[in-house]
Amino acid sequence: MFFERPEAGEVAILVHIAIDSSAEQEDPQEFEELVLSAGGDPASFITGSRKQPSPGYFVGSGKLQEIEEAVAFHDARLVIFNHTLSPSQERNLEKHLKCRVLDRTGLILDIFAQRARSHEGKLQVELAQLQHLSTRLKRGWTHLDRQKGGIGLRGAGETQLELDQRMIRQRIKSINKGLSKVRAQRNQGRRSRKRAEVPTISLAGYTNAGKSSLFNALTNAGIYTADQLFATLDSTLRSLSVPSFGNAVIVDTVGFISHLPHQLVEAFRATLEETAEASLLLHVVDASNEMHDSLMHEVDVVLKEIGADETPTLLVFNKIDLIPHRKPAIDRDTSGRPVRVWVSAKTGAGTDLLLDAISEILAGEMVQQTLVLLPEHARLRSRLYARGAVQEETVDDQGLFHLKVRLAPENLTRIIHEEGLQLDADFCVNKRLANPESSLTMTSAEQFE
Ligand code: GTP
Repeated sequence: MFFERPEAGEVAILVHIAIDSSAEQEDPQEFEELVLSAGGDPASFITGSRKQPSPGYFVGSGKLQEIEEAVAFHDARLVIFNHTLSPSQERNLEKHLKCRVLDRTGLILDIFAQRARSHEGKLQVELAQLQHLSTRLKRGWTHLDRQKGGIGLRGAGETQLELDQRMIRQRIKSINKGLSKVRAQRNQGRRSRKRAEVPTISLAGYTNAGKSSLFNALTNAGIYTADQLFATLDSTLRSLSVPSFGNAVIVDTVGFISHLPHQLVEAFRATLEETAEASLLLHVVDASNEMHDSLMHEVDVVLKEIGADETPTLLVFNKIDLIPHRKPAIDRDTSGRPVRVWVSAKTGAGTDLLLDAISEILAGEMVQQTLVLLPEHARLRSRLYARGAVQEETVDDQGLFHLKVRLAPENLTRIIHEEGLQLDADFCVNKRLANPESSLTMTSAEQFE
């Protein structure tokens, strides 16, 4: 990799200032998680508030002194701001504090640099880092300007700054060349999947929502998951067999974060755009996180930016094992289409419902039926409720349940079959009412436990 990274466990002073004039308020807790994910060791968390950032040091003189004292007290070699610093602010702070200063963009870029595994991922991150650096070179590193001699080292009269800029431009050019090659290969793969009419399901969501865990739960793929942000950076593809539907390809993608550095959105655009082309997008949400509404919004903003807001989307509310009394279920809109599935990737609860919802959306076809159930068909009844398939229910004076259900015929047949029951081919309400047992009868081995 082109850049130095902080060593694991590097003692860092964290600075988070609430800025009144800014609509973009970062979450201090997430900031700490980001620092831990980068391998930093937060020694002190300095907070404060300002009407607006000071142009010279971002913070005022009092706060600057507080940071300076914390650096000295903890013998820290790194100060991290939860904000975007201008190149000159970063430089002034480094000069004053006599240690490295990193801003939020630099921090996120650093995490990405540590996580990139594939050739493409590494190139994308390096590209983003170079772009970040080049803005700093132009505006901030002019103090490095000086004539440098040496035969064959540089063009005539070239300054250090020009030399650095030229090196960076060349490297950016060669990375772009490498990236187009990888992308051409990826496009070929995508085209052949399209030819074979295999639908692609793409997992998207805020970092740490549980995308990789869900990917594993659905495919048994054994992908690396960790309680750190951006454990997955490179998109991973696996074949997924969807019951009552057939084969699909599922893609795990990079996690989103609020105010994802612009350079990263650009560098990852091609990978993210694949998300927009998916047949179905699974937007994974950590339902146990109190902030999940605003995190969902952050993801929606990026999805819109990459043109994925038109892609059919299913919300997957994950981590229900952490929410008391929350059972696996499918929520549907007024037309009966699944819009949200409650699951736990950790325990596997609800993953069967998720597969059913995926199958339903991919198959597209749903029919409305009225089923008549005997009281002993309680388990079938509760399964239909968990799927959100029941639109109406009445009980007649014989104690029979009349359930108006809406779901894909394959799924209805399968569930009834799995419950050890069967359905007549010309199954209809009147017939059932006349003789319910003939249309929904138990098979020889009664399978209710
Ligand atoms: P990024 O790679 O950062 O985008 O994360 P991700 O969305 O792929 O999340 P990942 O699957 O790595 O999970 C993040 C953390 O949440 C891990 O510690 C998981 O063990 C945990 N986790 C995932 N799903 C569940 C769940 O259903 N319940 C609980 N309790 N924890 C979960």
